[in-house]
Amino acid sequence: MNPAPNLVLVGPMGAGKSSIGRRLAERFGLAFVDADAYIEQRTGASISAIFDHVGEAGFRERESVALGELLASNGQLVATGGGAVLDAGNRQLMRERGFVVYLSAGIDSQLKRLSRDRTRPLLQRGDREQVLRDLAAFREPLYREVADLVMDTDGLTAAEAASRLALRL
Ligand code: S3P
Repeated sequence: MNPAPNLVLVGPMGAGKSSIGRRLAERFGLAFVDADAYIEQRTGASISAIFDHVGEAGFRERESVALGELLASNGQLVATGGGAVLDAGNRQLMRERGFVVYLSAGIDSQLKRLSRDRTRPLLQRGDREQVLRDLAAFREPLYREVADLVMDTDGLTAAEAASRLALRL
């Protein structure tokens, strides 16, 4: 297992960061933390409610604070939100405090995995496929920039992806 203090998963919505992360954490004896769930717990509000009340900018501020708090500890597997890489400070912190894995996924896989989701505010902004394509166009280079390792999750269940990733760490 890599000697970095934490394992950090980045990638778009529907890449399987949480489901793969949970399995991987168990395998390596790391504490699993989903950054969005942590933000909801800390603020007492859902991600949607935060977007409604303070907008995306307000959410991003809370996301950066949460990452700072989470990555101050060691021995964790942190599944970040899809937009956490937008902030250069977050990217630097991830690299300093963790081994960063980019879980990539094609638009079709994302759409399939998110088909029943009603909790992600960015997906309510218009045609889902177009939203995901636009986000990917802007963010893909950032995921690649921050990553120590890239793994494609297309066509894999969470269990398969976790097993495959475990072999590469
Ligand atoms: C977002 C992704 C979500 C959540 C929020 C914004 C994004 O997390 O942080 O809805 O900007 O891509 P997941 O990637 O875990 O779905």
